[in-house]
Amino acid sequence: MKIGILTGGGDCPGLNPAIRGFVMRGLDYGFVIHGIREGWKGLVQGIVEPEPLGVARVEEIIRQGGTMLRSSRTNPYKDPAQLQAVKDNIRKFGFDAIVALGGEDTLGVASKLYKDGISTVGIPKTMDNDLSETDYTFGFDSAVQVNVDAADRLRDTAQSHSRVIVLEVMGRHAGWVALHTGIAAGADFILIPEVPMDVDALVEQVKRAHARKGYALVVASEGVELPNLDEADKKVDAFGHVILGDRNVGEWVAGEIEKRTGLETRAAATGHIQRGGAPSAFDRVLASRLGIRAAQCVYEKDFGKMVALRGVNVEPVDIDKATGVLRTVPVELYKSICPLFSK
Ligand code: F6P
Repeated sequence: MKIGILTGGGDCPGLNPAIRGFVMRGLDYGFVIHGIREGWKGLVQGIVEPEPLGVARVEEIIRQGGTMLRSSRTNPYKDPAQLQAVKDNIRKFGFDAIVALGGEDTLGVASKLYKDGISTVGIPKTMDNDLSETDYTFGFDSAVQVNVDAADRLRDTAQSHSRVIVLEVMGRHAGWVALHTGIAAGADFILIPEVPMDVDALVEQVKRAHARKGYALVVASEGVELPNLDEADKKVDAFGHVILGDRNVGEWVAGEIEKRTGLETRAAATGHIQRGGAPSAFDRVLASRLGIRAAQCVYEKDFGKMVALRGVNVEPVDIDKATGVLRTVPVELYKSICPLFSK
């Protein structure tokens, strides 16, 4: 079988180990695998690596961040001409199946293509950890680790200057990154998009923490709702998502805390640092297992599937179920963490 493999959407650590897992196992099955450059854009423009991927290309990439195939946020369903180009190029290159590594958007395209008669298999990735039907996505663990390191450093300087520090983290409309960062860093308050911001509770907790230990640390998700924020003129990406980083949630929260408490407050954001660097061991293992299982799906012609982590097992699930609804943080889970903030 001739297979095209691509990575779309925001990159994250783990993409290379997943490509490696797919290629290594795919070669056992006798597949000829070609890298498609820059996600769906590669199929719109017909940019496909001429040489098939072999062991030599992928052997060493398990520890590399980013994606060897490059990525883009391209939505061919926005434009009928682009969609036609994707279908024409799949035919032209003679691909029997397309393996797409991506989040909600990239896999959403894979799901639609499957319904349009193209054989696709999806591998879930995103630092946001917001895909349904899988317990974790790779990229998340590595991003949280970056944030926890940053929080530990910020804590040192906050303590020295008796300040409040607000750390803004990514995660889009799901609070997983903020929640796990905040718990692991021992934050005094965590703000997530799923729970409306209670500024009074936040301020009270910051005052209590500062009075007790001389500083306070707040972790805020970039997707938190802000009062009176006009989203109308905000930039959106090809899939219509507002560029949340531009809202500067951390700065806003820091300003509010300083205004209401009189405590000197600073904001910091880890931004795209969260998406770079070597994948964590957890992400390397998860990504490798998903890549290997995706190769099995292709071999068995089990298309229209996304490979998913369910408990300790990796198994195929319907790709449209995985991309239909975002997996956000259950409010009950957040509330169960709240007692940590009430000291
Ligand atoms: O979806 C991953 C993510 O890192 C989000 O957490 C963030 O909002 C967005 O991508 C940033 O996108 P870009 O790389 O296009 O700035």
